[in-house]
Amino acid sequence: MQHAVIMAGGSGTRLWPLSRAARPKQLLDVVADPGGGGAHSLLAEAFTRLQAVLPADRIWVCTAARYADAVRAALPELRPDRLVLEPVARDTANAVGLAAALVADVDPDAELAVVSADHVIRPVERFASALRTAYDVLAVRPRALVTLGVTPTSPATGFGYVQKGAATEVPGASEAASFREKPDRATAEGYLASGEYVWNSGMFVWRARTVLDALAEHLPESARGLDRVVAAPAGPQRDAVLAEVFPTLPKISVDYAVLEPAATEPGRVVVVDLDVDWLDVGSWPALAGTLTTDDAGNAVRGLTVLLDSSGNVVLSDDPDHLVALVGLRDSVVVHTADVTMVCPVGAAERVKQLLAATQQGH
Ligand code: GDD
Ligand code: MG
Repeated sequence: MQHAVIMAGGSGTRLWPLSRAARPKQLLDVVADPGGGGAHSLLAEAFTRLQAVLPADRIWVCTAARYADAVRAALPELRPDRLVLEPVARDTANAVGLAAALVADVDPDAELAVVSADHVIRPVERFASALRTAYDVLAVRPRALVTLGVTPTSPATGFGYVQKGAATEVPGASEAASFREKPDRATAEGYLASGEYVWNSGMFVWRARTVLDALAEHLPESARGLDRVVAAPAGPQRDAVLAEVFPTLPKISVDYAVLEPAATEPGRVVVVDLDVDWLDVGSWPALAGTLTTDDAGNAVRGLTVLLDSSGNVVLSDDPDHLVALVGLRDSVVVHTADVTMVCPVGAAERVKQLLAATQQGH
């Protein structure tokens, strides 16, 4: 059967101070409702998007245990036994592995889509059709590791790049000739100029068994640990093994651990075109794309007044606190109950560093 799991355990540090340790970006109500209703979270949007293809009872969410209550509150339709909780974050290789092991435990032949919680994707119908194509690939290539690829628009260094190779028997799906996670700027520029590469959207489709086999091959320490977890009977005993084993697993993303090495094997990785407007809401300028923008290109939310200002991202998270700007250009101004953060748009990537420098935790 077809299942999907939403990876929702990231901490979203580049959206500090709005995104906090206790409430990371995927759980914030930041996405404006196109219909004019209240804002909702990226996680809720990811769940609804999957419902275009799958029934709610085959949609899983994998996140850190400390976000469990917030996830349940954001997703009333999530079945309680579909929530996979990690005792600590060990990055996506282990999150994907844990989810795949638990899905395979209830459905050994499961075909599992892995999607991110931090994307805005429009229109949903085209996403749904790409996802169906990716599941179709598994019918003819059961051992494939399928990634959904997006046409790149800049030499961004924060993404994975997939080189397209030979066409497959499924229209819209090609073999990946290579996979490179987060290349440096010069390499990314070369990739963009060549026209041969697409961005890895961070969304994958594979049989749960296939990705577990790939982990056993490329990250055996994780695979062995996860085997121990699912060998324990579900319930308190499994939770105890998980709490003991999970923190010891090597911290690495699925892109580095599995996709990069697997793509060196001809035909193992397949890329399906995802032809959508796609936004990874990973930084302040990216988040601006989800906010309403005024005539001077200011993306604003909350109580704000701007005079002779342009190209800013301005957000007040306190309904009683006015943020007022005059003559300011291309800056990010974010006010929350306990932190005010100001930086040029061009330095927004350095917010992570700034957070580390505050030493007051996240
Ligand atoms: N459950 C869980 N546990 N989820 C996690 C963890 C974890 O330890 N770490 C990250 N996630 C979630 C995030 O919440 C997000 O939804 C997704 O996994 C991807 O993690 P990011 O940290 O946002 O990854 P990235 O943006 O640097 O890179 C990935 O996504 C890019 C596209 O957005 C890679 O797959 C790149 O290759 C890709 O281009
Ligand atoms: Mg991301």
